[in-house]
Amino acid sequence: MKKTAQKSSREGRIVNVSSEAHRFAYSEGIRFDKINDESAYNSFGAYGQSKLANILHAKELAKHLKEDGVNITANSLHPGSIVTNLFRYNGILRGFCNTVGKLVLKNIPQGAATTCYVALHPQVQGVSGEYFSDSNIYKPNSQGQNMELAKKLWDFSMNLFEAQIEGERERMWRLSSKGASGFSSSSTAEEVTQGIDGSGLTAIVTGASSGIGTETARVLASRGVHVVMAVRNMAACREVKKAIVKEIPNAKVQAMELDLSSLASVRKFASEFKSSGLPLNILM
Ligand SMILES: NC(=O)c1ccc[n+]([C@@H]2O[C@H](COP(=O)([O-])OP(=O)(O)OC[C@H]3O[C@@H](n4cnc5c(N)ncnc54)[C@H](OP(=O)(O)O)[C@@H]3O)[C@@H](O)[C@H]2O)c1
Repeated sequence: MKKTAQKSSREGRIVNVSSEAHRFAYSEGIRFDKINDESAYNSFGAYGQSKLANILHAKELAKHLKEDGVNITANSLHPGSIVTNLFRYNGILRGFCNTVGKLVLKNIPQGAATTCYVALHPQVQGVSGEYFSDSNIYKPNSQGQNMELAKKLWDFSMNLFEAQIEGERERMWRLSSKGASGFSSSSTAEEVTQGIDGSGLTAIVTGASSGIGTETARVLASRGVHVVMAVRNMAACREVKKAIVKEIPNAKVQAMELDLSSLASVRKFASEFKSSGLPLNILM
């Protein structure tokens, strides 16, 4: 937005849709110490708190934008009481909206007026940090005018946001940092076997009917390894084999039945493998 405002020389406008319900916020305004505390949750208090936060955020943001000298304003507003889907989770309010509400509340075109007024009207040019209602500047309650509270909310949000970003940065670093092998936790099976010729080798891959077993079988086969997929679910494995051969027509892959929970099945598999005459270079 900053770039656009500068390039276009047209004022940018940030509009927070708040509500008169900010007056029903918890008595302390924002519960910084119980922000995610479900036991202290109260739907009216929480809604009021979020709407108060909309007002405080616009006020503090307006201050920052002004300090940065950018041509962007930030305001908040109450759109009115309107028959919408907002009350779908509250049976009593929903009932009211769908009956008497239709007669006494704003309709949707009226409900969108203040938002559009603040977003576009020339009268609002240069106006920032204000709260509007019925397309006019209006006064929020004392908490909604409390710039100390606005700064506290800003700092609190920035700390939450920065902690999140720091965690994300660390995760990305861990994913991309390469160890002594030259590979990292984001390396793929194809990457770590790139250029390796596995022809002449035979591998038994257990659990090859799905997940990483399937991918292991596919990648080893693509490197020329003769892969014996030792699986319990032969039907699933046949599909895996079909997909591998479709992708790598000269792949040497075969399915053999093995249920690792049955010693009899293990013995049968071992004897069948032995009689196949294949060497065994890799067992996984
Ligand atoms: N209606 C009123 O009387 C009234 C009064 C004062 C203030 N307001 C404010 O006006 C604004 C609009 O309300 P409305 O009456 O138009 O309510 P609405 O009909 O319930 O519309 C709310 C819109 O917000 C979307 N939304 C909700 N949670 C979201 C999320 N987590 N991520 C993305 N989108 C989400 C909804 O999408 P889905 O359809 O996907 O849920 C829906 O499009 C709200 O901020 C409300 O607090 C309304």
